[in-house]
Amino acid sequence: MEKKLKRILTGDRPTGRLHIGHYFGSLKNRVEMQNSGEYEQFIEIADVQALTDNFNNPEKVRSNVREVVKDYLSIGIDPNKTTIFLQSMIPEIAELTVFYSNLVTIARLERNPTVKTELAQKRDVFGDSVTYGFLGYPVSQAADITCFEGEYVPVGEDQEPLIEQCREIVRKFNSIYGETLVEPKIVLSKTARIKGLDGNAKMGKSLGNAIYLSDSEDEIRRKVMGALTDPNRIKKDDLGNPDICMVAYYHKLFSSDEAVRKAVEECKKGERGCVACKKELAENIIEYLRPIREKRAYYDAHPEEIDRILMEGTEKARQTAKETMKKVKKAMRLDYFEGV
Ligand code: TRP
Repeated sequence: MEKKLKRILTGDRPTGRLHIGHYFGSLKNRVEMQNSGEYEQFIEIADVQALTDNFNNPEKVRSNVREVVKDYLSIGIDPNKTTIFLQSMIPEIAELTVFYSNLVTIARLERNPTVKTELAQKRDVFGDSVTYGFLGYPVSQAADITCFEGEYVPVGEDQEPLIEQCREIVRKFNSIYGETLVEPKIVLSKTARIKGLDGNAKMGKSLGNAIYLSDSEDEIRRKVMGALTDPNRIKKDDLGNPDICMVAYYHKLFSSDEAVRKAVEECKKGERGCVACKKELAENIIEYLRPIREKRAYYDAHPEEIDRILMEGTEKARQTAKETMKKVKKAMRLDYFEGV
């Protein structure tokens, strides 16, 4: 008998290429879960959600869709095992969002910590008055997950309040209309969020402190050369403190245990300069990301494969969404002409 696989649903907003923060924060986890044989994985390219704060820049969203698919494929997401699909081509998600909007209060959305944090950062887009669409995106994200009966949602910790809100919507729906929807669980990655090259707690495009999976060898070298080191260390033989150095921090992610031990020891004794240490790190990052860059180069040369993967994935996802909607409409007494 075929084993019943547990369903994973996750996604990304296509607003930029993915970087090593995404890789250690969730992408690596997705590849491991995919290859474990325990799960059936769906990954959504959340273009509709991306528009909630980029409605005035549709070209940005469009041009990043294929970049994000290339990022997935280059790190080892296998379209034969994982379904990659486009949110905007699944109208059932939008339909479900409308049904859910009756089950959520405005006050509850305004209290969502992720929405609050993002709003504070997006005053340039919204000023003092937020749109209905942005305030409501947690409702649409709940539809993303439940439309595919996602049981597990592997995401970074910043997404926790959104998953919690989804769980509340599911409970409310089931209590009113009867047990219909699956309540998802969050799966946090083992690696905590990784810091930026400048020491900022968050790595991000707008902060200019990220190394992208698609960066060239020279871009990686240039970025590592600009990384934050112990500011008290002026001369090469000053004693260094690796605990406040981003180069030491990244060595731990990309270099062998032996190389890390040596770097830390020599730094503390003032026996290695920061320039040499950065050069060694840059080469290790370049080697680590080499297979990813090579796979990406293949897809850069075969854009038709990207389109085929996205189309086939979307088609498959849509079938699943239609089945869920059938159950939802029946539960909500909206199944008017069934059996006619
Ligand atoms: N909000 C997520 C992010 O910004 C993207 C996303 C959209 C998502 N829909 C989802 C994540 C469903 C998990 C499940 O990264």
